[in-house]
Amino acid sequence: MSEKMEQYRIHQEPYYRSTGDEVALYEAAYSVRMPMMLKGPTGCGKTRFVEYMAWKLGRPLITVACNEDMTASDLVGRFLLDAQGTRWQDGPLTLAARHGAICYLDEVVEARQDTTVVIHPLTDNRRMLPLEKKGELVHAHPDFQLVISYNPGYQSLMKDLKQSTKQRFGALDFNYPEHVTETEIVAHETGVNGDVAGKLVSIAERARNLKGHGLDEGISTRMLVYAGSLIAKGVEPLAACRVALVRPITDDPDMRDALDAAVTTYF
Ligand SMILES: Nc1ncnc2c1ncn2[C@@H]1O[C@H](COP(=O)(O)OP(=O)(O)OP(=O)(O)O)[C@@H](O)[C@H]1O
Ligand SMILES: [Mg+2]
Repeated sequence: MSEKMEQYRIHQEPYYRSTGDEVALYEAAYSVRMPMMLKGPTGCGKTRFVEYMAWKLGRPLITVACNEDMTASDLVGRFLLDAQGTRWQDGPLTLAARHGAICYLDEVVEARQDTTVVIHPLTDNRRMLPLEKKGELVHAHPDFQLVISYNPGYQSLMKDLKQSTKQRFGALDFNYPEHVTETEIVAHETGVNGDVAGKLVSIAERARNLKGHGLDEGISTRMLVYAGSLIAKGVEPLAACRVALVRPITDDPDMRDALDAAVTTYF
């Protein structure tokens, strides 16, 4: 493994609490180098899962946060000008393909479709990446795998993935864990006791029931971890919940009051 890749290695086991058979399914998918797509709401554990799988499979992990300004060159690479002249610099996708890393494209629908198509030759049986500007054809390392994530709720019709992109991937659905599991995660991540963690999860469950009824998205596991961390630091639970759970997800005064009321039934 080259020095360049060392920074992408995950040396310590990330804490990941599985919620079903996703670990075994991912291992099977990796064994046949199937590109994978992780679908699910924000803050439900997708990134943590990829970190855990990269560690378990012993592969370096290269993550790219996608956005609509991203170009194909941002993924593939470009010529840079320096004192010695021009020098090619591999982009994250090329780096991963060359060295056998797992490449994780986070929120891939945010990228424009003309950017997304550069992954096509890497995600079918060709497993190669043409660097057109450089005139090189990179054959993917046997250990290379591509993973993408997206939140199916957020897309407009304009911002969906093309079928020709989607159909290159196997997909795993993620969601907030069930009560006992999520309580365990919140307690583990923050240090609050099981009783407090369980109350936080119950508040989130109430808010999740309001999704589509005045809330665009429920309270995520990530937000519960924030709230728990504040409480563990000594912040009074009511204040912690207002700051970390309620205020971020709504601007509507009635919804805010309803959620604050839900908080006071537990704390
Ligand atoms: N199954 C789990 N095991 C351990 N920790 C979890 C799990 N699910 C969620 N978490 C906790 O929730 C936090 C948020 O999860 P993560 O960052 O993986 O969300 P995500 O699905 O990638 O969200 P986004 O779509 O916004 O990127 C993690 O940092 C971790 O503390
Ligand atoms: Mg993420």
